[in-house]
Amino acid sequence: MSKKLKIAVIGGGSSYTPELIDGIIQRAIELPVHEIQLVDIKEGEDKLNIIYSLTKRMIKKAGLDIEVYKTLNRRKAIANSDFVVTQIRVGGLKARALDEKIPIRYDVIGQETTGPGGFAKALRTMPVMLEICKEIEELAPNAWLINFTNPVSIITEMVLKHTNVKTIGLCNVPVGMVNNIAEILECDKANLKIDFIGLNHMVYGKRIYLEGIDITTKVIDKLMEGKSPNMRNIPDLNWDPELIKSLKVIPCPYHKYFYMKDKILEETKQGLTEQGTRAEQVMKIEEELFQLYSQKEVEEKPKKLEERGGAYYSEAAISLISAIYNDKSEIHTVNIGNNGAISSMPGNVVVEVNAVVGKNGAKPITVGELPTEIKGLVQMVKAYELLTVEAGVNQCYSSGLMALVSNPLVPSVDVAKQILDDIILENNRYITLD
Ligand code: G6P
Repeated sequence: MSKKLKIAVIGGGSSYTPELIDGIIQRAIELPVHEIQLVDIKEGEDKLNIIYSLTKRMIKKAGLDIEVYKTLNRRKAIANSDFVVTQIRVGGLKARALDEKIPIRYDVIGQETTGPGGFAKALRTMPVMLEICKEIEELAPNAWLINFTNPVSIITEMVLKHTNVKTIGLCNVPVGMVNNIAEILECDKANLKIDFIGLNHMVYGKRIYLEGIDITTKVIDKLMEGKSPNMRNIPDLNWDPELIKSLKVIPCPYHKYFYMKDKILEETKQGLTEQGTRAEQVMKIEEELFQLYSQKEVEEKPKKLEERGGAYYSEAAISLISAIYNDKSEIHTVNIGNNGAISSMPGNVVVEVNAVVGKNGAKPITVGELPTEIKGLVQMVKAYELLTVEAGVNQCYSSGLMALVSNPLVPSVDVAKQILDDIILENNRYITLD
């Protein structure tokens, strides 16, 4: 194939963009990108300018012939793109700090993706994503939308149900799990295969294979010995060996919020005065990152970026884009319509599973039943996600309330109502529910 590619990055001023650019540079031989459009909103213009200059330096240092543009005109950026990557944060880190703080008032973990914090983020984000999708439908109908915008499950579900845009939702958690398990086993990650089953940030390794041999029990034993792979943004608590033995599948780091909610709540509350919320910690990291990005001698993705939770982000995104472009029929773990991959989930909901990826998109691979140990939790979280989509698309209070009531982190209707009312009040610029 020789077609040259145009990629539009919506939320181009994000501190994660150098990660993406690094991925494009690493795969330059197989992926002939000729144009990158970095687009952001007025409030993000200063950051966009810094990212734009750094991107130009990175591309120059790599000796590549890629045209880089920055713009506040999203339509112009999207027009005729082959791939549109969305990595937006509506309301910025200030809104995230509130998402993390409001639920704590009622002794509930906020969590910016999977908890009530993620619910608030979803409600702010859905109207903007609908606008973006309308523009893609009009200006780049053949483009693939690679969605990193959180909560990935909910946003991808909405795009799939309410637009005609071809989309795949992506996350770094599955890549991170493969890397971590390879590290624990001291083996080459290329020889390790995990049958993923579940939802974004609610995904389990059902079976694990090393060079084709099922080693699930060995991995469970290692985890029971106290090896608990984690991510930079999640409290570093060890798994209870008894839980790991009883689950019989491998949890992802985000499951700690569900299986250890009391401990995480306590730790979060204690940390509030010293370190602040994760959003407040990230604000500090970002400040330092942007200082680094502004230095003319910085021409590569700096190591400091590893302090964010999104490690391997570019690995996931650019290898997926390459698999589509080069029609590789390669296996990737993605968020797409279930279509029977998980037999205990409806066919038309978004799940996180392995899929064969080529030029026609991602075809999910059958992974079978959700084991009983995890079925209830996964199905409950899916119900929460579907109700959140209904609340966002129809601006419906009742769906919003039932969404929160269905979220396993929320203990009662009373608490759900108080959190919901606070979210609406403190996000009145972005959220209306009737
Ligand atoms: C992980 C998750 C992402 C999330 C990020 C938060 O990478 O998979 O969905 O956005 O962590 O990291 P942060 O550094 O912003 O807390």
